[in-house]
Amino acid sequence: MFVTSLVFTSVLLSTANLIAHKLKYPGRMMLGLCLIFLFLGGSGFLAAVFPPVGWLALFLPVSLLIWKSTRRGPRLFLGLSLVATVVAFAIPSVSGYRAEQGFARLRARYPFESMEGRSPLVKASAREHSLSRASLDRLERQDQVSERWNRRGEVFRRLHEDSVGLFVRNFGFGVGRMIPLIPSESNLKIAGLSILQPGPRITRTGSPGEWGQPIASLMGEYDQLHDDSIIEFLEPRSFGYVKDRNHVAGFTPHQFLGLPDRSEWLKLQTLDLVGLLLHEEPRVYVSENLPRMDELRAAPTRPLDPFESVALASLQRGEDLWIVSDSGNIRMLGAIRSTKQCVVCHGGERGDLLGAFSYTLAVKDEPPVPATEQ
Ligand code: HEC
Repeated sequence: MFVTSLVFTSVLLSTANLIAHKLKYPGRMMLGLCLIFLFLGGSGFLAAVFPPVGWLALFLPVSLLIWKSTRRGPRLFLGLSLVATVVAFAIPSVSGYRAEQGFARLRARYPFESMEGRSPLVKASAREHSLSRASLDRLERQDQVSERWNRRGEVFRRLHEDSVGLFVRNFGFGVGRMIPLIPSESNLKIAGLSILQPGPRITRTGSPGEWGQPIASLMGEYDQLHDDSIIEFLEPRSFGYVKDRNHVAGFTPHQFLGLPDRSEWLKLQTLDLVGLLLHEEPRVYVSENLPRMDELRAAPTRPLDPFESVALASLQRGEDLWIVSDSGNIRMLGAIRSTKQCVVCHGGERGDLLGAFSYTLAVKDEPPVPATEQ
């Protein structure tokens, strides 16, 4: 792009000097050409895409007018046009220099970090190769999310891996002053929220045998809720730019970025993380907030209750969700499995069980009547 800028610059420069040389009586024609230059300079395209060329297209007609008023030879114009070129490149360079200093600060603030020794590795016992259809479907949906373009990751990539490109773009020498992709504090920061558990805890635990069957007509809603929770907790943009396990920039500990509450029928009461990696035995983190790893590392934990123990055993065998229901109260355990993205930090293989969400839910209103066959 820098080359394109230079090409444009030389075309403009030589045209302007040709005019100065060839036209003895520049009159109307010159005015016309001046207007064309002005149009080019003013046209947002040139100015936005090649800022120095935009400036030059503005300065050259002005220089032509100045030169004409002096009634001196074309050499003077050559001098004037060169000065105009220097100024046209100097203007974006000043702002570019300031931006470079900003990038250096951002690089120091969000350096490459190694996840070695920090991200807990998956345990061999988490491997289960016969995943249920529902688990495979959910993994596929998770894959689709992780394959979505991750703008924050891309901005970190540019900050660390493409400093030459950033320099060139930002000095305005080429296309790509695509503002959202220029690293800045605002497009790199992730607001760390503490979201309170939305409802009271269901105190009755009991073994699954003491609960009834889940309300079948709500199956789609349970599924959706668990999808939403995984996405909110493990939003790919919160990982930052993950080049490999030893080079991660901008990683924000897993945390809920929003409350998963889209369901028309289900009210989320509490959602706890069942950790399978950081502790010897599976533990449930206890917090007044929806799980956020920076807080949970120091939070109290409890062992699994009878419902969770039975449900977890089923997830470990490859199941996806385990749900029981009793007079409008629902308990659900949902598997958090590894996608390819997670493997970079947590090791193991796609599909391994890394954790689970333990939900307590209430039915908001009358559940929908299941469609009956006529
Ligand atoms: C860039 C590295 C990285 C990526 C990618 C990553 N994690 Fe993590 N994960 C961590 C770290 C580090 C921790 C430990 C807590 C901390 O320090 O924030 C962790 C903790 C966890 C925990 C809690 C473990 C426990 O026992 O408490 C779960 C569950 C988890 N990750 C699941 C996932 C899943 C699922 C994915 C993929 C969708 C994923 N992680 C992707 C770095 C990563």
